[in-house]
Amino acid sequence: MGLLYPQKRLFLLFVVLSVVVTVVLLFMFSYIEPTDHDATVPVAENTGHSRRKRIAVSFWGRTGNHIFEYAALIGTADRNNMTPVIVENTDLVDLFDFQIPKLTVQNPTREFEVVNERLAGAYNPEVEKLKDLNKDVYLKGYLQSWKYFHPFEKKLKQKYFKFKDNLLREADEFLNQARTHLRKSKNSLYIGVHIRRGDFVRAKSRGYGAVPVPYFYRAMNYYLKKYKDVIFVVCSNGLTWCKDNLDSDFYPIQYSTLGDSGADLALLSRCNHSIISVGSFSWWSGYLAGGEVVYPVDAFPVPNTSIGDSYVRADYFLPGWTRL
Ligand SMILES: *[C@@H]1O[C@H](CO)[C@@H](O)[C@H](O)[C@H]1NC(C)=O
Ligand SMILES: *[C@@H]1O[C@H](CO)[C@@H](O)[C@H](O)[C@H]1NC(C)=O
Repeated sequence: MGLLYPQKRLFLLFVVLSVVVTVVLLFMFSYIEPTDHDATVPVAENTGHSRRKRIAVSFWGRTGNHIFEYAALIGTADRNNMTPVIVENTDLVDLFDFQIPKLTVQNPTREFEVVNERLAGAYNPEVEKLKDLNKDVYLKGYLQSWKYFHPFEKKLKQKYFKFKDNLLREADEFLNQARTHLRKSKNSLYIGVHIRRGDFVRAKSRGYGAVPVPYFYRAMNYYLKKYKDVIFVVCSNGLTWCKDNLDSDFYPIQYSTLGDSGADLALLSRCNHSIISVGSFSWWSGYLAGGEVVYPVDAFPVPNTSIGDSYVRADYFLPGWTRL
């Protein structure tokens, strides 16, 4: 062991100090729980045993499905003290002020522990025990049950389901014009009506049902009787059918002219109460509006069909909703 030159000694001191500082920092961070996990998602790879476990969902289907999946992601992450991450593309980034960064994960089914739903429209209570897995989780399925996320409703709406400003402006403008056009008072209430047509009309044998016309009259009469001064704001992927079948001479109906499903969803979310039909998009139009929701008694799910058998009514429809 020879004598060290002053520079060498300095260098050694520097190295030792660096190591000490690094160790101290690592130690500190491993005990700090992020207060707002969404702002501090650890995008870098695993740095230690104490990193919060991550959770991702599969984005299957279309807009309405994606919202169910996103909501289940947030709810399940909260429930298990995990960090929600996005690993697949979703159109929801164009709809909401998106809060969760996307991670580049080549193959989530390999890198995460896969947890499959049991039925597309039923709650899987296994999600309450994901923290016991002690692994990153990839939740796969349609996840269509309010039970995944309803306990976190307030946070979901305030933080995660905030529509883009331009969509909200457009929606509010439409509602104001509807009121003027129908010569309604400032006290009139907006009833959002979503009428799912398209694929749902032709898929009865599989278990989707188009909702028959009388339901919409039952539902409109219900709100007219209850609130008197109302405006029905109708959005649909089959507006021609709606105009042919609904009596807009007698009923105060305003058809959406926004021409875009995302804008329609924002519009329906601004209404005071809702009439929904079938499908996840309809479901969300009611949930996001947050008032009373009326849904059809027997259109969906059709019993003894492949789709009908994958739903549990009590898990799919909120207990407080009105069945007409
Ligand atoms: C009904 O909805 C409109 C438009 O979103 C809103 O301005 C109004 O405050 C709501 N009325 C009630 C009674 O909640
Ligand atoms: C569905 O099938 C079950 C068993 O096959 C039968 O008991 C039931 O009546 C059927 N329900 C309807 C609505 O067809």
